Amino acid sequence: MKNKKLNKKIVMNERESVLKEWPTGDAVDLGEAMRYQRNIPESKRFSSALSRAEADNKTLLQPRAGVALLDEQITLLQHLQNSCDLLPTTIDAYTRLNRYDEAQVGIDRSIEAGTSLLNGFPAVNHGVLACRELVESVNKPIEVRHGTPDARLLTEITMAAGFTSNEGGGISYNIPYSKRVPLEKSIRDWQYCDRIVGLYAEEGIIINREPFGPLTGTLVPPFVSHCVALVEGLLALEQGVKCVTLGYGQAGNLIQDVAAIHSLRDLANEYFQAAGFDDYKLSTVFHQWMGGFPENEAQAYSVISLGATAAALSGATKVIVKTPHEAAGVPTKEANKQGLEATGQIINMVSDQRMTTSPALEQEIELIKREVRAIMSKVFALGDGDIARGVVEAFKTGVMDIPFAPADCNSGILMPVRDNNGAVRVLDRGATPLPEDVVSFHNDLIKERAKVEGREVSFQMVIDDVNAISQGRLVGRPKDPILRAL
Ligand code: 5AD
Repeated sequence: MKNKKLNKKIVMNERESVLKEWPTGDAVDLGEAMRYQRNIPESKRFSSALSRAEADNKTLLQPRAGVALLDEQITLLQHLQNSCDLLPTTIDAYTRLNRYDEAQVGIDRSIEAGTSLLNGFPAVNHGVLACRELVESVNKPIEVRHGTPDARLLTEITMAAGFTSNEGGGISYNIPYSKRVPLEKSIRDWQYCDRIVGLYAEEGIIINREPFGPLTGTLVPPFVSHCVALVEGLLALEQGVKCVTLGYGQAGNLIQDVAAIHSLRDLANEYFQAAGFDDYKLSTVFHQWMGGFPENEAQAYSVISLGATAAALSGATKVIVKTPHEAAGVPTKEANKQGLEATGQIINMVSDQRMTTSPALEQEIELIKREVRAIMSKVFALGDGDIARGVVEAFKTGVMDIPFAPADCNSGILMPVRDNNGAVRVLDRGATPLPEDVVSFHNDLIKERAKVEGREVSFQMVIDDVNAISQGRLVGRPKDPILRAL
């Protein structure tokens, strides 16, 4: 396990077996794929749209969307495209697990049923030509969004088909999604994916890469997701990626959310440049609330709107939008568009304003930066300077630890909880090397909340927080009638 650019011969050899995993792999010809990618108009290129948004200080809108059949997927994206700036194609769960035979059954049954019976678009089974038909039937840049620990074949097919962005990473598409995939394997498989994007870059074709920021979407403290984003950004750059979008999932406290995007941008430039990279394009993505949603659609719109507000105030390059159907499952195309329209209205209104800096915002930015630097220096030390080895060791020892993740390779001891203002703090630091004064600061804030609520600090608070937003508030307060009157 090394953070070193993969040898081209080894990758070319490996490609042969990757492309044999499913018959549609045969249609991937890298030279032809590069010619196809080169002819994609600027207006449909992800990296160009992000650069323009960065230059113009705009926050772009992007939904999630994926259904089983090609015609349906085309109808879906055409329905959404005039309400957003960037398009997705969300991949189904079988494809994410490399279970293409079961995805095929899902396609066949969806045809019989006349409706989608998969929770996304099985791009590998549809193959290069069908994916090109999709790409050519829309007028916006299009990204493949999934959750795949081994995305080598999916990457080959979708990049050859003209998708101009690929989401994921060896940590962010393993630990929140899988139980038993070794971290060494998913990191190596994503080095392959990044190397393929790097090969396109060598030919002047810039494909965007987006590590998945929100992780488990459940009370993830900003420093935790920032460390993963930075490591995955560094791993991608090493393989020759030139355009990176780092992400963060809304936590709910406005100051903390704005501080998270500011600190993410600063830290990325700091770490990327320290590693010797200077020819990359950086952008950021803010994810609207990724935790449990209220079932009531009016309340769901409010959660969406707070996320839209935070995204715009933070100056993120793009926002990933939720829908009023979030609590129920895969949204209809109409509900999906309504999430975009609600978000668009807020983004337009807020972009005419600026959040002025304040001591509270500055303090939060500095806090996140100190937390991240403390973890990152230990990660580098654990790998003797090599971030790939370091990050594997860091998860093994709990130096990096993602709350509420299913993966065996994650400690799961670090425990977050909200403070009295709803910012996510650390209740149990686990084995993370946070500075002592930072730990005390978190403790004091949590005690302050406990005092206001008239209860002891306990795990019950965490449970209350996990459920709070779907029940109508940010902080999980006890059902005390006096507190409810507050
Ligand atoms: N279509 C639209 N949204 C989807 N999501 C997952 N699959 C789809 C799909 N096929 C969204 C849901 C989920 C988030 C991770 O992705 O909002 O909460």
